[in-house]
Amino acid sequence: MTQTARAHTNIALIKYWGKRDAQLILPYTDSVSLTLDAFYTDTSVNFDPTLTEDQLTLDGKPASAKRLLPMLDQVRALSGRTEFAQVTSVNHVPTAAGLASSASAFAALALAAAADAGLALDATALSRLARRGSGSASRSVFGGLVRWHRGVDDASSYAEALPASPLDLRMLVAVVNAGPKPIGSRDLMANTVATSPYYPAFVETNQQAADQMVAALGTGEFEKVGQLTQQSAMRMHASMMAATPPFTYFEPATMAIWQAVQHLQARGLPVYATMDAGPNVKVLTTAEFVVEAKRELQELSDAPILEAKAGPAARLLEDHHAI
Ligand code: PMV
Repeated sequence: MTQTARAHTNIALIKYWGKRDAQLILPYTDSVSLTLDAFYTDTSVNFDPTLTEDQLTLDGKPASAKRLLPMLDQVRALSGRTEFAQVTSVNHVPTAAGLASSASAFAALALAAAADAGLALDATALSRLARRGSGSASRSVFGGLVRWHRGVDDASSYAEALPASPLDLRMLVAVVNAGPKPIGSRDLMANTVATSPYYPAFVETNQQAADQMVAALGTGEFEKVGQLTQQSAMRMHASMMAATPPFTYFEPATMAIWQAVQHLQARGLPVYATMDAGPNVKVLTTAEFVVEAKRELQELSDAPILEAKAGPAARLLEDHHAI
Protein backbone atom coordinates (compact mmCIF):
# COMPACT_ATOMS: atom_id res chain seq x y z
CA MET A 1 0.00 0.00 0.00
CA THR A 2 1.14 3.55 -0.68
CA GLN A 3 1.59 6.11 2.11
CA THR A 4 1.62 9.84 1.46
CA ALA A 5 3.04 12.50 3.77
CA ARG A 6 3.11 16.29 3.69
CA ALA A 7 5.94 18.33 5.24
CA HIS A 8 6.51 22.08 5.18
CA THR A 9 9.72 23.97 4.49
CA ASN A 10 11.53 25.74 7.31
CA ILE A 11 13.83 28.73 7.40
CA ALA A 12 16.61 28.78 9.96
CA LEU A 13 16.81 31.84 12.21
CA ILE A 14 20.00 30.37 13.66
CA LYS A 15 21.76 28.54 10.84
CA TYR A 16 23.10 25.06 10.43
CA TRP A 17 26.29 25.19 8.39
CA GLY A 18 28.90 22.44 8.50
CA LYS A 19 28.91 18.71 9.27
CA ARG A 20 30.99 17.07 11.97
CA ASP A 21 29.99 13.69 10.51
CA ALA A 22 29.04 13.71 6.84
CA GLN A 23 27.61 10.18 6.84
CA LEU A 24 25.28 10.62 9.80
CA ILE A 25 24.82 14.34 9.12
CA LEU A 26 25.79 15.53 12.57
CA PRO A 27 26.16 19.33 12.64
CA TYR A 28 28.79 21.42 14.40
CA THR A 29 26.14 23.65 16.00
CA ASP A 30 22.51 23.68 17.08
CA SER A 31 20.10 25.55 14.81
CA VAL A 32 16.69 27.18 15.36
CA SER A 33 14.03 27.51 12.65
CA LEU A 34 10.50 28.52 11.77
CA THR A 35 8.42 26.05 9.77
CA LEU A 36 6.41 27.92 7.11
CA ASP A 37 2.77 27.39 6.15
CA ALA A 38 3.07 28.53 2.53
CA PHE A 39 5.56 26.01 1.11
CA TYR A 40 5.43 22.22 1.40
CA THR A 41 6.16 18.89 -0.28
CA ASP A 42 3.84 15.90 -0.70
CA THR A 43 5.62 12.57 -1.02
CA SER A 44 4.21 9.07 -1.60
CA VAL A 45 6.17 5.90 -0.93
CA ASN A 46 5.36 2.33 -1.85
CA PHE A 47 7.76 -0.51 -1.01
CA ASP A 48 6.96 -2.77 -3.95
CA PRO A 49 8.23 -6.37 -4.33
CA THR A 50 8.04 -6.14 -8.13
CA LEU A 51 10.63 -3.32 -8.36
CA THR A 52 14.28 -4.04 -9.19
CA GLU A 53 15.56 -0.64 -7.99
CA ASP A 54 14.35 2.45 -6.10
CA GLN A 55 12.46 4.82 -8.38
CA LEU A 56 11.72 8.52 -8.03
CA THR A 57 9.23 10.73 -9.84
CA LEU A 58 9.85 14.36 -8.94
CA ASP A 59 7.31 17.03 -9.93
CA GLY A 60 5.92 14.69 -12.58
CA LYS A 61 9.25 13.65 -14.15
CA PRO A 62 11.50 10.64 -13.58
CA ALA A 63 14.57 11.62 -11.53
CA SER A 64 17.60 9.92 -9.98
CA ALA A 65 16.80 8.17 -6.67
CA LYS A 66 20.48 8.26 -5.60
CA ARG A 67 20.07 10.99 -2.97
CA LEU A 68 17.22 9.02 -1.37
CA LEU A 69 19.34 5.94 -0.81
CA PRO A 70 20.80 6.66 2.66
CA MET A 71 17.31 7.25 4.03
CA LEU A 72 15.58 4.39 2.22
CA ASP A 73 18.40 2.03 3.29
CA GLN A 74 17.99 3.20 6.87
CA VAL A 75 14.23 2.51 6.71
CA ARG A 76 14.93 -0.95 5.27
CA ALA A 77 17.51 -1.62 8.02
CA LEU A 78 15.14 -0.52 10.80
CA SER A 79 12.10 -2.38 9.47
CA GLY A 80 13.69 -5.51 8.02
CA ARG A 81 11.97 -4.80 4.71
CA THR A 82 13.96 -5.61 1.59
CA GLU A 83 11.79 -4.27 -1.25
CA PHE A 84 12.73 -1.31 -3.38
CA ALA A 85 10.56 1.79 -3.20
CA GLN A 86 8.52 3.78 -5.66
CA VAL A 87 8.73 7.42 -4.51
CA THR A 88 6.57 10.19 -5.98
CA SER A 89 7.22 13.71 -4.76
CA VAL A 90 5.59 17.03 -5.60
CA ASN A 91 6.92 20.36 -4.34
CA HIS A 92 4.21 22.89 -3.57
CA VAL A 93 6.59 25.77 -3.57
CA PRO A 94 5.53 28.44 -6.07
CA THR A 95 7.64 27.75 -9.15
CA ALA A 96 9.16 31.21 -9.03
CA ALA A 97 10.14 30.99 -5.38
CA GLY A 98 13.52 29.38 -5.92
CA LEU A 99 13.45 28.13 -2.34
CA ALA A 100 15.37 25.04 -1.39
CA SER A 101 12.95 22.18 -0.91
CA SER A 102 15.26 19.55 0.56
CA ALA A 103 14.00 20.19 4.10
CA SER A 104 10.33 19.57 3.29
CA ALA A 105 11.17 16.84 0.76
CA PHE A 106 13.23 14.70 3.13
CA ALA A 107 10.89 15.22 6.09
CA ALA A 108 7.95 14.06 3.95
CA LEU A 109 9.98 11.14 2.60
CA ALA A 110 11.00 10.04 6.11
CA LEU A 111 7.40 10.02 7.33
CA ALA A 112 5.91 8.33 4.24
CA ALA A 113 8.70 5.73 3.99
CA ALA A 114 8.55 4.86 7.70
CA ALA A 115 4.76 4.51 7.52
CA ASP A 116 4.80 2.38 4.38
CA ALA A 117 7.49 0.12 5.87
CA GLY A 118 5.30 -0.34 8.97
CA LEU A 119 7.72 1.44 11.31
CA ALA A 120 6.13 3.15 14.30
CA LEU A 121 8.56 6.02 14.92
CA ASP A 122 8.02 8.79 17.43
CA ALA A 123 8.78 12.39 16.40
CA THR A 124 12.35 12.21 17.73
CA ALA A 125 13.13 9.06 15.76
CA LEU A 126 11.49 10.58 12.69
CA SER A 127 13.62 13.71 13.03
CA ARG A 128 16.78 11.57 13.25
CA LEU A 129 15.69 9.69 10.13
CA ALA A 130 14.91 12.91 8.23
CA ARG A 131 18.37 14.20 9.21
CA ARG A 132 19.91 11.37 7.14
CA GLY A 133 18.47 12.91 3.98
CA SER A 134 19.28 16.55 4.64
CA GLY A 135 20.23 18.23 7.90
CA SER A 136 17.56 20.91 7.73
CA ALA A 137 14.90 18.20 7.16
CA SER A 138 15.29 17.12 10.80
CA ARG A 139 13.56 20.42 11.69
CA SER A 140 10.69 20.13 9.15
CA VAL A 141 9.26 17.17 11.07
CA PHE A 142 7.90 19.79 13.50
CA GLY A 143 5.68 22.83 13.09
CA GLY A 144 6.27 26.37 14.34
CA LEU A 145 9.54 27.14 16.12
CA VAL A 146 12.04 24.29 16.22
CA ARG A 147 15.51 23.63 17.64
CA TRP A 148 17.86 20.99 16.23
CA HIS A 149 20.21 19.80 18.96
CA ARG A 150 23.60 19.04 17.45
CA GLY A 151 24.08 16.09 19.80
CA VAL A 152 27.17 13.91 19.93
CA ASP A 153 25.98 10.90 17.95
CA ASP A 154 23.07 9.56 15.89
CA ALA A 155 20.85 9.08 18.95
CA SER A 156 21.35 12.57 20.41
CA SER A 157 21.18 14.70 17.23
CA TYR A 158 17.52 15.51 16.62
CA ALA A 159 15.12 18.44 16.46
CA GLU A 160 12.25 19.28 18.79
CA ALA A 161 9.45 21.82 18.81
CA LEU A 162 10.02 24.88 21.00
CA PRO A 163 7.26 26.23 23.22
CA ALA A 164 5.00 28.71 21.39
CA SER A 165 6.40 32.24 21.46
CA PRO A 166 4.31 35.32 22.29
CA LEU A 167 5.59 36.65 18.94
CA ASP A 168 3.42 36.17 15.83
CA LEU A 169 6.25 35.90 13.31
CA ARG A 170 5.95 36.50 9.56
CA MET A 171 8.46 35.73 6.84
CA LEU A 172 8.57 37.68 3.58
CA VAL A 173 10.47 35.90 0.81
CA ALA A 174 12.04 38.22 -1.77
CA VAL A 175 12.58 36.18 -4.92
CA VAL A 176 15.78 37.57 -6.35
CA ASN A 177 16.56 34.69 -8.69
CA ALA A 178 14.38 31.62 -9.16
CA GLY A 179 16.96 29.64 -11.16
CA PRO A 180 18.96 26.64 -9.89
CA LYS A 181 21.75 27.51 -7.48
CA PRO A 182 25.29 27.61 -8.86
CA ILE A 183 26.66 25.33 -6.13
CA GLY A 184 24.85 23.11 -3.64
CA SER A 185 25.09 23.51 0.13
CA ARG A 186 26.67 20.08 0.64
CA ASP A 187 29.98 20.74 -1.15
CA LEU A 188 30.19 24.32 -0.03
CA MET A 189 29.66 23.42 3.62
CA ALA A 190 32.43 20.84 3.48
CA ASN A 191 34.78 23.33 1.85
CA THR A 192 33.96 26.03 4.38
CA VAL A 193 34.68 23.67 7.27
CA ALA A 194 37.94 22.54 5.66
CA THR A 195 39.37 25.88 4.57
CA SER A 196 37.70 28.92 6.14
CA PRO A 197 39.59 30.56 9.01
CA TYR A 198 36.29 32.20 9.96
CA TYR A 199 34.51 28.87 10.43
CA PRO A 200 35.60 28.28 14.07
CA ALA A 201 34.29 31.76 14.94
CA PHE A 202 30.97 30.94 13.27
CA VAL A 203 30.66 27.73 15.31
CA GLU A 204 31.49 29.39 18.62
CA THR A 205 29.14 32.34 18.22
CA ASN A 206 26.35 30.37 16.53
CA GLN A 207 26.12 27.85 19.35
CA GLN A 208 25.71 30.66 21.89
CA ALA A 209 23.25 32.37 19.57
CA ALA A 210 21.00 29.27 19.58
CA ASP A 211 20.59 29.57 23.36
CA GLN A 212 20.06 33.32 23.15
CA MET A 213 17.49 32.86 20.39
CA VAL A 214 15.45 30.35 22.40
CA ALA A 215 15.46 32.76 25.36
CA ALA A 216 14.43 35.77 23.22
CA LEU A 217 11.65 33.79 21.50
CA GLY A 218 10.38 32.72 24.91
CA THR A 219 10.23 36.26 26.29
CA GLY A 220 9.00 37.74 23.01
CA GLU A 221 11.89 40.20 22.47
CA PHE A 222 11.54 40.70 18.72
CA GLU A 223 14.47 43.06 18.33
CA LYS A 224 16.79 40.49 19.86
CA VAL A 225 15.27 37.69 17.73
CA GLY A 226 15.80 39.77 14.61
CA GLN A 227 19.36 40.80 15.44
CA LEU A 228 20.37 37.22 16.20
CA THR A 229 18.72 36.07 12.95
CA GLN A 230 20.70 38.53 10.82
CA GLN A 231 23.95 37.85 12.65
CA SER A 232 23.75 34.09 12.21
CA ALA A 233 23.05 34.42 8.48
CA MET A 234 25.75 37.00 7.86
CA ARG A 235 28.34 35.05 9.84
CA MET A 236 27.48 31.91 7.86
CA HIS A 237 27.89 33.79 4.58
CA ALA A 238 31.09 35.47 5.81
CA SER A 239 32.55 32.04 6.55
CA MET A 240 31.91 30.99 2.91
CA MET A 241 33.42 34.18 1.57
CA ALA A 242 36.56 33.51 3.60
CA ALA A 243 36.94 29.92 2.31
CA THR A 244 39.39 28.75 -0.38
CA PRO A 245 38.19 29.22 -3.03
CA PRO A 246 35.94 32.03 -1.77
CA PHE A 247 32.27 31.85 -2.68
CA THR A 248 29.18 33.96 -2.22
CA TYR A 249 25.49 33.49 -3.04
CA PHE A 250 25.02 37.26 -3.00
CA GLU A 251 23.88 38.76 -6.28
CA PRO A 252 23.42 42.49 -6.92
CA ALA A 253 19.67 42.15 -6.32
CA THR A 254 20.37 40.26 -3.07
CA MET A 255 22.39 43.19 -1.80
CA ALA A 256 19.65 45.59 -2.88
CA ILE A 257 17.19 43.80 -0.56
CA TRP A 258 19.66 43.77 2.35
CA GLN A 259 20.15 47.50 1.87
CA ALA A 260 16.41 48.06 1.66
CA VAL A 261 16.06 46.18 4.98
CA GLN A 262 18.78 48.33 6.57
CA HIS A 263 17.02 51.43 5.29
CA LEU A 264 13.68 50.33 6.75
CA GLN A 265 15.36 49.45 10.06
CA ALA A 266 16.85 52.94 10.23
CA ARG A 267 13.30 54.24 9.87
CA GLY A 268 12.25 52.14 12.83
CA LEU A 269 10.44 49.31 11.03
CA PRO A 270 11.10 45.95 12.75
CA VAL A 271 12.40 43.92 9.76
CA TYR A 272 15.43 41.62 9.74
CA ALA A 273 16.99 39.72 6.85
CA THR A 274 18.25 36.17 6.51
CA MET A 275 19.40 34.07 3.57
CA ASP A 276 20.34 30.47 2.87
CA ALA A 277 22.23 28.58 0.15
CA GLY A 278 20.90 30.80 -2.63
CA PRO A 279 20.45 34.47 -3.51
CA ASN A 280 16.86 34.91 -2.24
CA VAL A 281 16.39 36.99 0.90
CA LYS A 282 13.87 36.20 3.63
CA VAL A 283 12.72 39.07 5.79
CA LEU A 284 11.50 38.38 9.30
CA THR A 285 8.88 40.62 10.87
CA THR A 286 5.75 40.33 12.99
CA ALA A 287 2.05 40.18 12.09
CA GLU A 288 1.62 43.78 13.18
CA PHE A 289 4.14 45.13 10.66
CA VAL A 290 3.92 42.65 7.79
CA VAL A 291 1.63 44.69 5.51
CA GLU A 292 3.77 47.79 5.81
CA ALA A 293 7.01 45.82 5.47
CA LYS A 294 5.79 44.08 2.32
CA ARG A 295 4.61 47.33 0.76
CA GLU A 296 7.87 49.13 1.56
CA LEU A 297 10.05 46.31 0.29
CA GLN A 298 8.00 46.08 -2.87
CA GLU A 299 8.60 49.78 -3.45
CA LEU A 300 12.35 49.46 -2.98
CA SER A 301 12.85 46.31 -5.05
CA ASP A 302 11.60 44.62 -8.24
CA ALA A 303 11.78 41.15 -6.66
CA PRO A 304 8.42 39.36 -6.19
CA ILE A 305 7.64 39.07 -2.48
CA LEU A 306 5.84 36.06 -1.00
CA GLU A 307 4.42 35.92 2.51
CA ALA A 308 4.42 33.09 5.05
CA LYS A 309 3.68 32.47 8.70
CA ALA A 310 4.25 29.54 11.05
CA GLY A 311 3.23 26.22 9.49
CA PRO A 312 2.29 22.79 10.85
CA ALA A 313 4.26 19.62 11.58
CA ALA A 314 4.73 16.88 8.98
CA ARG A 315 1.73 14.56 8.77
CA LEU A 316 0.36 11.61 6.86
CA LEU A 317 -2.38 12.42 4.36
CA GLU A 318 -5.49 10.28 4.51
CA ASP A 319 -6.04 10.30 0.78
CA HIS A 320 -3.24 8.22 -0.66
CA HIS A 321 -3.87 9.65 -4.10
CA ALA A 322 -3.73 13.24 -2.89
CA ILE A 323 -0.79 14.10 -5.11
O1 PMV B 1 19.88 20.72 4.95
P1 PMV B 1 20.82 21.20 3.90
O2 PMV B 1 21.95 20.26 3.67
O3 PMV B 1 20.10 21.58 2.65
O4 PMV B 1 21.54 22.53 4.46
C1 PMV B 1 20.85 23.74 4.51
C2 PMV B 1 21.62 24.75 5.27
C3 PMV B 1 21.01 26.15 5.24
O5 PMV B 1 19.74 26.15 4.61
C4 PMV B 1 21.90 27.09 4.47
C5 PMV B 1 20.85 26.66 6.67
C6 PMV B 1 19.80 25.96 7.49
O6 PMV B 1 20.04 25.82 8.70
O7 PMV B 1 18.74 25.59 6.96
